[in-house]
Amino acid sequence: MCSPRRGPDVKVRGHAAAVRASLSIDELKRRAAEGAVAFVKSGQRVGLGTGSTAKHAVAAIAERLRSGRLSDVTGCPTSTATEEQARAGGIPLLPWNGTDKLDVAIDGADEVDPSLWLIKGLGGALLREKSVAVRAQTFIVVVDESKIVTKLGTKAPLPVEVTRTSWRAEARFLETLGGKPALRGGEERPFLTDNGNVILDVRFVGGIDDPRAVALALDARAHVQAHGLFLEMADVVFVASARGVRRMDKPEQQP
Ligand code: 5RP
Repeated sequence: MCSPRRGPDVKVRGHAAAVRASLSIDELKRRAAEGAVAFVKSGQRVGLGTGSTAKHAVAAIAERLRSGRLSDVTGCPTSTATEEQARAGGIPLLPWNGTDKLDVAIDGADEVDPSLWLIKGLGGALLREKSVAVRAQTFIVVVDESKIVTKLGTKAPLPVEVTRTSWRAEARFLETLGGKPALRGGEERPFLTDNGNVILDVRFVGGIDDPRAVALALDARAHVQAHGLFLEMADVVFVASARGVRRMDKPEQQP
């Protein structure tokens, strides 16, 4: 393993189909993010997500702070990239270690299923993203419609962040779960996360039949630092399409 590099290099399959009208994918992402930022109130602690959709939310919060529509908002960034954007935009930041509860977090996703279960982590920030999402009272997800799936794992691979020394063993374990893991970036120049770990992108033929079982199996592995299954975490999802922005809410819990 030599010359580690940074930077996401994984694409979601079938991403092309999102827009038939004149709106660009980036404009759809911006509209979804605007819907979410309407949730943010003055005085709140806000988790700031990572990726090309979440960056629009960070920009919108910064703009509202500058214009006075919001005040006294502090941010908790989920990656060094988001931290840089937030600083440049003038959003005061919470110290990473000093933050317990957050009022709201806004982040993107790679797949969203009808229960609002997610795959996240193609941008490589999944560990901090999960840490922020679980501490947020309300976790809001912003996506364009290409991210909506009926079954998780049908478009995106499942990212699994593992320690550098143990990725081969974790890859073998993932195969026992029915996955086909690939080291992100390859062995010569593996992608490194902000936490100094590597990522296995795991394809499941036909999607993930039992996301809860896979999540539980991965949670029990000492060298798995984080995985991209965010189950029962999202409260609201804003989905932008050429027809407008729609809101999906977390289904009621069955008794
Ligand atoms: C980063 C993530 C991103 O939120 C996810 O990959 C979506 O990114 P984008 O909005 O650029 O499609 O999980 O780790």
